[in-house]
Amino acid sequence: MTEVQVSGLTKKYGAKAALHELDLTIESGQFVTLLGPSGCGKTTTLRCLAGLERPTSGRIVMGDRVVVDTARRTFVPADKRQVGMVFQSYALWPHLSVTDNVAYPLKVARMPGRERAQRVQEMLDAVGLSDLGKRSVTALSGGQQQRVALARALAARPGIIFYDEPLSNLDSKLRYQMGQQVRSLHNRFETTSVYVTHDQEEAITLSDRIIVMSEGVIVQSGTPSDLYDRPNSAYVADFMGFQNILPGTVTGVHGKTADVRVDDTSLVFSGIATGEVSIGDRADIAFRAAHARLSPQGSGPGAFGGTVERTTYLGSAVNLLVRAEGLPMRVRTETAELSAESVPTAGEEHTFAVSPDRAVVIPHENAAPADDDYLTTMTDAAVAPR
Ligand SMILES: Nc1ncnc2c1ncn2[C@@H]1O[C@H](COP(=O)(O)OP(=O)(O)OP(=O)(O)O)[C@@H](O)[C@H]1O
Ligand SMILES: [Mg+2]
Repeated sequence: MTEVQVSGLTKKYGAKAALHELDLTIESGQFVTLLGPSGCGKTTTLRCLAGLERPTSGRIVMGDRVVVDTARRTFVPADKRQVGMVFQSYALWPHLSVTDNVAYPLKVARMPGRERAQRVQEMLDAVGLSDLGKRSVTALSGGQQQRVALARALAARPGIIFYDEPLSNLDSKLRYQMGQQVRSLHNRFETTSVYVTHDQEEAITLSDRIIVMSEGVIVQSGTPSDLYDRPNSAYVADFMGFQNILPGTVTGVHGKTADVRVDDTSLVFSGIATGEVSIGDRADIAFRAAHARLSPQGSGPGAFGGTVERTTYLGSAVNLLVRAEGLPMRVRTETAELSAESVPTAGEEHTFAVSPDRAVVIPHENAAPADDDYLTTMTDAAVAPR
């Protein structure tokens, strides 16, 4: 298990910074996920950590070893960092068998033949490929190839493993199973894992900690539930699946809860504030479609009435587009909670309510990325002690 400390990590391609003064600590034994949209710098971060990319500036310490320190021109290459890697494209040796692929890093590490054969068998057993050792890797399915890649990455017992979207070429069911396998191998072999994905569900189910990135900076990091329940910017809220994010003004503060009146309406919602707020501040109120419940008697903060404009039947649930005081609201009702006749249909008027503990109030200095000043502020905020 290896701890990683990154400070001031910047990577420029020409004049453009793919990473901008990143600071982060990955605790020993943790499963940490870098999450963010295409181009935000996830792969670049991973490649800098793994030693496949030379940072423009910054310092990286792995365990008790400084592997990058640009100020002292220190750079330890990938093969001297004792790390394992798993890529989206599997990156297996096509001319080698399953066994020889898994044995490869052990040969490089000069492990004696007998021990090596035992280790390879142990790894193949661990990933459920015990009987396929002699097979050419080109004669395997995608899921099987990725398991060979996993076994190979773990074979030399590295203290840390890097995963770059390893499951994105697999179908959704296999993806889930393989994700669970990745996590259980992490636990069993007691490694530190850094995992890259743009899939928030995958990040939530696998990780101890999630780091959300945007345009080369960290915008929020925390446990899956911190991010899922308490996003502190509209950007993270949107990325974590909050379908309703409405700008307004704070009209009341009661401890950790604040009331927000939505712009150009009389609608007031209460939610947990994810930053400091005072009356009169600009803020967004954000909530998930599934947390707006049908509430015929609903009144007061969190309640809104509107006309159902569109319904989309999903089987276990119905998605509704509701127009309330001119604003489109997204509501999701579970069919199990309704009788068949009471499922709202287009054209009907209904009242809904959002419970204050299911909504978040996001002060506007944490709003969506707009300019460089914002990014600087967010970097500072993201690295401040929590
Ligand atoms: N070798 C390179 N030369 C120039 N620009 C690069 C290079 N590699 C990455 N970039 C740029 O750096 C930024 C970050 O790229 P990166 O590959 O880290 O993104 P990512 O978050 O992994 O995206 P994706 O989800 O699409 O894989 C992008 O704007 C990308 O175009
Ligand atoms: Mg990438």
